Amino acid sequence: MSRVYNFSAGPAVLPEEVLKEAAEDMMDYKGCGMSVMEMSHRSKMFDDIIKEAEADIRSLMNIPDNYKVLFLQGGASQQFAAVPMNLMKKKKAGYIITGQWAKKAAQEAKNYGEVVELASSADKTFSYIPDCSDLAITDDLDYVYICENNTIYGTHYHELPNTKGVDLVSDVSSCFLSEPIDVSKYAVVYGGVQKNVGPAGLVIAIIREDLITDEVLEGTPTMLKWKTQADNDSLYNTPNCWAIYICGLVFKWLLKNGGLEAMKKRNEEKAAILYDFLDQSKLFKGTVEPASRSLMNVPFVTGDADLDAKFIAEAKAAGFENLKGHRTVGGMRASIYNAMPKEGVEKLVAFMAEFEKKNS
Ligand SMILES: Cc1ncc(COP(=O)(O)O)c(C=O)c1O
Repeated sequence: MSRVYNFSAGPAVLPEEVLKEAAEDMMDYKGCGMSVMEMSHRSKMFDDIIKEAEADIRSLMNIPDNYKVLFLQGGASQQFAAVPMNLMKKKKAGYIITGQWAKKAAQEAKNYGEVVELASSADKTFSYIPDCSDLAITDDLDYVYICENNTIYGTHYHELPNTKGVDLVSDVSSCFLSEPIDVSKYAVVYGGVQKNVGPAGLVIAIIREDLITDEVLEGTPTMLKWKTQADNDSLYNTPNCWAIYICGLVFKWLLKNGGLEAMKKRNEEKAAILYDFLDQSKLFKGTVEPASRSLMNVPFVTGDADLDAKFIAEAKAAGFENLKGHRTVGGMRASIYNAMPKEGVEKLVAFMAEFEKKNS
């Protein structure tokens, strides 16, 4: 068996211990003679899996009792519609545009009500997070929406916007469980799990209970109504059982490794290795303003598209996979999620230094 260093933005690297455990359980989960993929979602075995997963994420994130945790399908993109359908009572919401995912979410919300663009970093190719300390937020907004970590551009909010009392909704897909957050500051926190937590297709939504009501926009599909899912403990229909099980294993891995404080420290150390190298390199340049840098996604360029392509090809041959930047940005991007070992970043940086020596 040989494993590469996988810098994919998602689906992404998962902890090897978790993959091994899942492999061991594959034929016969805890003596029940079948895999988790094959068991009924109504079985006692699966009930234990989903309940334990919920208890573990509650403990990891310190989720207050007045928040529900829902395991939903349809990817993070499905919530781009579910958020306005469930929350747009006054048919008006504010969006902060920090990249493609926030833009897509805003675009979707326009199908259901008025969208006010509160701020944007489009003027500098989304290379920074705008100052959100005093935005023109009025109390007729149903919510303020952010994408907290911008996977494509490599930016991250280091301070939440001052929403002036309006509910905050955050897409945390690419920074999920990478560091502690104070859930009580949000109305809704949700993320696709395929970056830091598990297989694609599952979304975990953490929603303040008072927002889960029957009062949704007319025409909201039963499946997209959060109340349907909350009333049925995420088992209204057949859920993505396998993904929930893998997330559960990842939660246990996180708990065993010191929880989110420890993960933050580890992620800061890993990111610093790469950013410190970029800051002194004469060939490679980070594309993000230092104050807005993400710990998870690190885009960089040489400034020469041919040299970028050469780097990506040589890196791949050396066992560093998926370093090509997003098609809308070009260059390179190293995604260094929780499960990327420090050694993977150290080796990448050593490879970059060698490449720089040969190509300067
Ligand atoms: C920040 C962010 N939001 C949303 C999405 C969309 O997720 P999905 O493919 O699960 O719909 C992604 C996917 O990469 C993302 O990075």
